[in-house]
Amino acid sequence: LDEVLTRALDEIVNSGRMDVAAIFLLQERLGDLQLRAVRGLSEETARLVARLGLLDGDCGGVIRTGKMVVVPDLNRYGRSRSPVFRQERLRSLVHVPLNARGNVLGSMCVGNRAEEGFSREDLEFLSAVGDQIALAVENARLYAEVQRKERVRGELLQKVIAAQEEERKRVARELHDETSQALTALLYEVEEALEQGCDGRTQEVLEHMRQLALQSLDGIHKLIYDLRPSLLDHLGLPAAIHWLAETRLEANGIRVQLEEDPDLGRLPQEVEIALFRVVQEALSNILRHSGARNVAISLRKRDGYLDLSVEDDGVGFDLEEIVHGPDTSRGLGLLGMAERVQLLGGQFDIVSAPGEGTRIHAQIPLGAAGAEGREHA
Ligand SMILES: Nc1ncnc2c1ncn2[C@@H]1O[C@H](COP(=O)(O)OP(=O)(O)OP(=O)(O)O)[C@@H](O)[C@H]1O
Ligand SMILES: [Mg+2]
Repeated sequence: LDEVLTRALDEIVNSGRMDVAAIFLLQERLGDLQLRAVRGLSEETARLVARLGLLDGDCGGVIRTGKMVVVPDLNRYGRSRSPVFRQERLRSLVHVPLNARGNVLGSMCVGNRAEEGFSREDLEFLSAVGDQIALAVENARLYAEVQRKERVRGELLQKVIAAQEEERKRVARELHDETSQALTALLYEVEEALEQGCDGRTQEVLEHMRQLALQSLDGIHKLIYDLRPSLLDHLGLPAAIHWLAETRLEANGIRVQLEEDPDLGRLPQEVEIALFRVVQEALSNILRHSGARNVAISLRKRDGYLDLSVEDDGVGFDLEEIVHGPDTSRGLGLLGMAERVQLLGGQFDIVSAPGEGTRIHAQIPLGAAGAEGREHA
């Protein structure tokens, strides 16, 4: 921005009709005026201007009024009030408000040594330049604001995802250590009672209890796996994807074609978790929405990148409608996949169209450590 401002002032001073020009911008947080660019003054005087303004500290009040202020003859002002003017032998001055959409963002002050002061054309020219500068300032601020928000959003997201994984781990541990242990104990006791023999009715009830305990244990194990697949921790991503494909797709009659790099090795933990979650969501979408009969999953390493794609031959969908549609609660699953990949510096894309199946593709850069795999206990 400072470069833009300086260029604008160059234009003014180079027009040959004006000698000194300075831009003051209202600081967003503090609300005071700050010198941002100056032309036509020695460095020493510029320092003075930064402190005292060209004529006064509040640029003739243009910030408050939003109106241009022309001071035709400075001899009327007391000399002591304006050391800059005395030093520079300036005679006339104009304060141009920098207006953008009704907000005064600052002031451009232009001074002349010539006796005749500013012509009407001069003032029109300065007013036009002021509008342009204001627009540039506003754009720069909006842009910075968007960038800041984007950064905050990214940081927040990272925290949320980390917290979510942490919490899942905790719940999985709890389910494993407490609930599942208790159920197992119950199962043993029921089995013991069954072995001791009892009358037919009690036998029936005990058998039913045994079945229920088994079913619950099964359910809890599935839950634990979804929360934090120990397969992922112990055996790595391919094994965990195999397991997902088997239990989610094949168990529901969907054919799966799995293609993996044989020498994938272990990947950085955050990459394994992120890709596991991506596949998890992709497969759950396939099951819930696609009606697919065949799914192809591929996981490969190439040129320092990890490449994952999941493709189905189901009904497909209109991506545009999901992403830009009015219902912002839709598409969170897809968004979550994209975010996880992007947080790792990767690229994520979806190709789909009604009647043409769906393909999701993620590409994650593997740092030096990642490419070599990590030591695993
Ligand atoms: N493989 C797919 N085949 C067909 N349609 C899909 C597929 N994946 C996603 N969609 C469509 O895209 C929409 C958005 O998917 P997304 O995963 O973001 O949300 P969701 O699955 O509906 O809800 P959730 O937030 O629980 O994931 C789905 O509602 C569905 O219409
Ligand atoms: Mg989903």
